[in-house]
This record gives sequence, structure tokens and C-alpha cells, in this order.
Amino acid sequence: MKTKETFIPYINEGYSSKGDSIVLGAAILNNEPIGEAHVKIPLKTLNRHGLIAGATGTGKTKTIQVLSEQLSAKGIPVLMMDIKGDFSGIAKEGEEKPFITERHTKINLPFSPQSFPVELMSLSEQNGVRLRATVTEFGPVLFSRILDLNDTQAGVVAVIFKYCDDKKMPLLDLKDIKKVLNYITEEGKEEIEESYGKISTSTTGIILRKIIELEQQGGDIFFGEKSFEIEDLMRIDENGKGYVNIIRLTDIQDKPKLFSTFMLSLLAEIYQKMPEKGDADQPELVLFIDEAHLIFNEASKTLLDQIETIIKLVRSKGIGVYFVTQNPMDVPASVLAQLGLKIQHALRAFTAKDRQAIKQTAENYPLSDYYKTDEVLTSLGIGEAFVTALNEKGIPTPLAATMMRAPESRMDVLTENEIEEINNKSKLVRKYEEEIDRESAYEMLSKKIEEAIEQTQEEETQEEEKKKSNEPSTAEVIGKSVTKVVTSASFIRGVFGILTKLFKK
Ligand SMILES: Nc1ncnc2c1ncn2[C@@H]1O[C@H](COP(=O)(O)OP(=O)(O)OP(=O)(O)O)[C@@H](O)[C@H]1O
Ligand SMILES: [Mg+2]
Repeated sequence: MKTKETFIPYINEGYSSKGDSIVLGAAILNNEPIGEAHVKIPLKTLNRHGLIAGATGTGKTKTIQVLSEQLSAKGIPVLMMDIKGDFSGIAKEGEEKPFITERHTKINLPFSPQSFPVELMSLSEQNGVRLRATVTEFGPVLFSRILDLNDTQAGVVAVIFKYCDDKKMPLLDLKDIKKVLNYITEEGKEEIEESYGKISTSTTGIILRKIIELEQQGGDIFFGEKSFEIEDLMRIDENGKGYVNIIRLTDIQDKPKLFSTFMLSLLAEIYQKMPEKGDADQPELVLFIDEAHLIFNEASKTLLDQIETIIKLVRSKGIGVYFVTQNPMDVPASVLAQLGLKIQHALRAFTAKDRQAIKQTAENYPLSDYYKTDEVLTSLGIGEAFVTALNEKGIPTPLAATMMRAPESRMDVLTENEIEEINNKSKLVRKYEEEIDRESAYEMLSKKIEEAIEQTQEEETQEEEKKKSNEPSTAEVIGKSVTKVVTSASFIRGVFGILTKLFKK
């Protein structure tokens, strides 16, 4: 084993940074944190994405809390996907307890309790800023990917989007797209076939079933207006601290489809709306996805490809994405390969599979003269982790077992009253509170069908009236024509004709 004398310059040179950086803690050698060897991450490389992994209870969430605090303090906003609901404490000052004083003395870093500006957000009906998106915003490609449609089915979705675009009918919520799906196989069949080609009912049937599945996972609440503007994630408070936007996802753990839908739409929107940043000195926004295996486990191949592509693309927009999960193998290799920062907390070797994972994880880290990686991996303490980042030149920093600093905000969750207080003060909660259901495809098609029925009914009544003299009573006439409306095949053809005319206008 090499000595402390060589270790200190080795770490300091590896983690030296000309630009601004955040400090995670102190490097450990032979179980001892070295206060003269701090582990730092340059702000410049934070758009290079990362992974925070480790067994349960080893300190992953506290590590993201530390990272978020440091980012916020540097004026960088954060978006946190809080699956377990254990992140809200960042809104309140922490307390300096004896074990924290001891930790911070060892790592030679100051500890000053402080709070950070927080927005609480929700995809469902939980209190907080409501996050919604419209179907139109998704576009046909992404919408099809989310439903995991094959090419033929995706082709039909493309026709639907095109048709609604041609007719200036907005697709806002799932109700809209369901209505169009029904319409194109029933009342609007002839009209659609004429302009867009034949569409099979079995294809629309499958699409409809998949939409209903998404709806049952809460998609009906998520899709609609007012749709969220991503600029609202980029806010800085009056003291220059970046907002920590916490999306509370406790109620969607069992709804992976909604979760990955949301993630993908968010990243796609960020990609579309944010300007190209090139080689900036610091990121625009850093996104943490806790319990990330939830996205990857359930995701189809197409969805994974989409995630991989978007992750690659958002980098140049100054967005850093950090996955947090227990086993690093939860993240697909293609995504793993793109991650610049790796923070690996302890792994536990209970089973043969665990030992395999440890071996593989150790092999994925840079070689080190100072550590037996696989041994250290199982013996790291709580709040300690192997860290390797990228330096300003994009070169991996030396592997450093690190004793992390403690969060300066509260390590526990907020009370219900505290949550309410934050939401009551929030401008964003008010902005997105209102549920708008403006005229869109559903209403427009319903109206067209109704109007066509009324028109035909009127024509028929006029005809009947002409023959009135021969007929016994008005009541009977109306009765008859109503029966006709319901049963007559020629009437239904008539409606199609009128609808075709209406839409051709
Ligand atoms: N950096 C730290 N400083 C001080 N204490 C810490 C630190 N990291 C972790 N701890 C302690 O360990 C506990 C567990 O940490 P944490 O909740 O972050 O684990 P986790 O890896 O996210 O677990 P899970 O997988 O169950 O979500 C914390 O409540 C805290 O007491
Ligand atoms: Mg956790």
C-alpha cells in the first residue's frame, strides 16, 4: 500500500479544478478520511451525467441531498424525482448533531445549517404544482413509443395527428385521441379512407387498449392543460440560490408507464426548448432520478433507445441527468457508458448474484494503487462512497473512497403543515392549479356528429311535412322519424355524406 504522503497530492492533482466546483467530502485511505484531500466535482462537467448506486440505507438519498444543496447554493436549479417522498427536508435548516460535528471535523469541512428554496410538484392529484402535458405536444413519434406501438400502429397514430392538424383540432387529453380513434373507424371512416387511406379496426382497437392502460396508470390526470412550461424549472430565488424542484412520486411507484412517459416527455421538451449551450462553465439544470430501476425495468426496447438518445442530446443543452439506484446493473450498459460521474456506495454480498454484481462493478471502475476495489466496495460505511468524476478536460479523476459531507438542511421529511405552507406561498401552484378543458378534438367531433344528425333529422321532418295531408298525426310523424334515425341504414350513410362535406369545407 502506498502512503498518505503520496496519496494527498495524487487526489489533489486528480481533483484540481481551475473553474468553480462542488465539494463532496474527503478521500479515505486505510479507513481514515484525509482532511487535506478533498473530492471535488467541477461544475463544468456536471452536464456529463452520472450514477449514484449502493445497497439500501448506505446513503444514496443523502448524497443527492448534499449534491442538490451545493448546486442550489451555486445558483443551479435542481429537479428531483422523489419516489419515496424522503427529500422534502431540504426546504428547512438542518441541525448540527454530535455525529455530524464529528464527521465534519474528520473531513475538515465547515458545517453551516441552511435551507434551500423548494417547489413541490405532482403528476397526480397530490397537493403541489400540477405537472401536465398535452397529447399534441408529445407528437406522434413519442406518443407511439410510449404506447410501445409497432410500425403499422404508429402509422395510424401519425395519420391521427395529421388529420387533427389538418382540421385544426387540438389533441389535448386522452379523451381527445380516443374520440378520434372511434371516429375514424365509425362515422368518419369514408372521409378518412378517401384522404388518408384504409385503416383497420383491429389496429385502432389495439391502440385504444394501450391508451386505456396508460389512462389507468393515471395518464388521464397527466394529459391535458395547463401544460407545464419548462422555464419554470429554471428559477433562481432572490438570494441567488437555484430552486430545488421536487416531484413527489410516492403514489406512482406502481405506475411505471406513467413515470417513464413523464420522464421522456420532460427530457424531450427540455431538448426542444432549451438553446444549445456548447461548452458552458456550469449546467442549466441538474436532474436526479431516485429509484431509477423503475424506469428501466419496465421500459421496452424502443423506450430505452429513446431514453439513451435523449440523454445523449440534452448534454449539449446544459442538462445533467443523474440516476440513483441500488444495483449499478439496473442501468442499461448503453446508458451507463454515457455517465461521467459515478458515486458508488457500499454493496452487500448476500447471494452469489450479489457477489457477481460486486465483481462486475469493481471491474467497471478505474484501477487504483490505493484500494482493493472489490474489498472496499463491501466495507464502505454509511455516507461513504467510491467516487470518480470527470475533470475539466473530461478525463476520469482517480478513484477515491470518500467520506461524504452531511446535508446542511434537514435530514428528515417536512410535516404536512410545512408542506402546506410551501404550497400556499408558491406562485407556480397558483399558475398551474386550474384545470382547463378548452374545445379540442373530443368536443369538436361530438359537435360535428350532433350537427349532422340534426341536419338530417330536419330534412326528414321537412319531407314528412310535405306529405303531411296524407298522414294521421304530428306525434306519430315525429315518432316514426325518430325510429328512422336510430334504425335506417340509408340514414347512417346520409350522415357520413354530410360529415364528409362538413370536413371538406
Ligand atoms: N452523508 C451523510 N452524512 C450523515 N449521515 C448520513 C449520510 N448519508 C447517510 N447518512 C445516514 O444514513 C441514513 C440512510 O441514508 P439514505 O436514506 O441516504 O440511504 P439510501 O441509500 O437512500 O437508502 P434507500 O436505498 O433505502 O433509499 C440516513 O438517514 C442518515 O442517518
Ligand atoms: Mg434512498
